[in-house]
Amino acid sequence: MRLATLDRRSFLKLTGATCVVSALDACTYAEIFAPLSDGVAFDLSAPEFAALREVGGAAPLDAPGRKILLVRRSEGELVALNRLCTHQGVDLSPAQFGRWDASAERLTCDAHKSVFGVDGAVLGGPAPRPLPIYDVSFDAASGAGRVSFTGAAPEGGAGEAGGAGEEEAGAQVPAELRDLVSPFSDSSSVEEGRALYEEHCASCHGVGGVGTNLPFTPPPTAFTDDPRRGEWTDGYLFWRVKKGEGGPAGSAMYGFEGTLTDEQIWKVVTYLKTVISP
Ligand code: HEC
Ligand code: FES
Repeated sequence: MRLATLDRRSFLKLTGATCVVSALDACTYAEIFAPLSDGVAFDLSAPEFAALREVGGAAPLDAPGRKILLVRRSEGELVALNRLCTHQGVDLSPAQFGRWDASAERLTCDAHKSVFGVDGAVLGGPAPRPLPIYDVSFDAASGAGRVSFTGAAPEGGAGEAGGAGEEEAGAQVPAELRDLVSPFSDSSSVEEGRALYEEHCASCHGVGGVGTNLPFTPPPTAFTDDPRRGEWTDGYLFWRVKKGEGGPAGSAMYGFEGTLTDEQIWKVVTYLKTVISP
């Protein structure tokens, strides 16, 4: 069953989550499945960007599969940060978990107190990686601008990893599972994994793993763009999908034990690896 051919009712049945009903009221099917673009335009005269008309202001900007925080650093300079906390992926929008301190130019995650600089660098807390930053072009006179994803440094490129460090993303996975490697690598397993992914996962994570705009907090991981993707071992992905454990509070990600066999989960993981590092 390909997602493109799903009607609204099958989509709801597929996700099995009641909050998806209100999600569909808020966003159209087309918006949810919009393909990733190489950039997104914005116009500061729009009401949702009111905070950015003052130097020091910050406001969220959404594009398919990307969650951005725009910061007005000076009259002529805007900074665009990926606003998913690199600790457990919560949304650092000011309306969610992010607290932007304009005078110190620091963004604090209210979930577990990671602190990021305006360049994305980790200044404190458990976050293992900097926030990626994106190129912005901006005309202060008209307020029109564009964030470009093509020039993005995927690992942020700024600052030092701090806090609990490298182990954090897999911190709770049992040690004996963490270093397991998928028993499948042949192309028919990848294809089987892709079909299972499209049936069970793409409704939230997007076809091809690019994420969706479903308004979960935290949002469904965009596998192609997540700053933590280099840290995911096969064993971690298997455990995370099977058990649904280890996610942030309020996560919509449930375990697939009982829905998928271990062999099927390994095949989904095998497919996911081709998405994470093509
Ligand atoms: C109902 C929506 C939904 C479905 C269906 C879903 N996920 Fe998720 N998933 C999420 C959300 C939301 C998150 C982010 C929060 C979290 O990490 O728990 C997530 C996180 C994850 C992560 C964690 C990445 C990390 O940060 O460590 C993995 C791996 C994952 N999903 C894989 C899958 C796979 C594979 C499937 C299908 C078998 C699937 N998901 C189905 C909503 C969903
Ligand atoms: S510090 Fe941000 S999610 Fe934990």
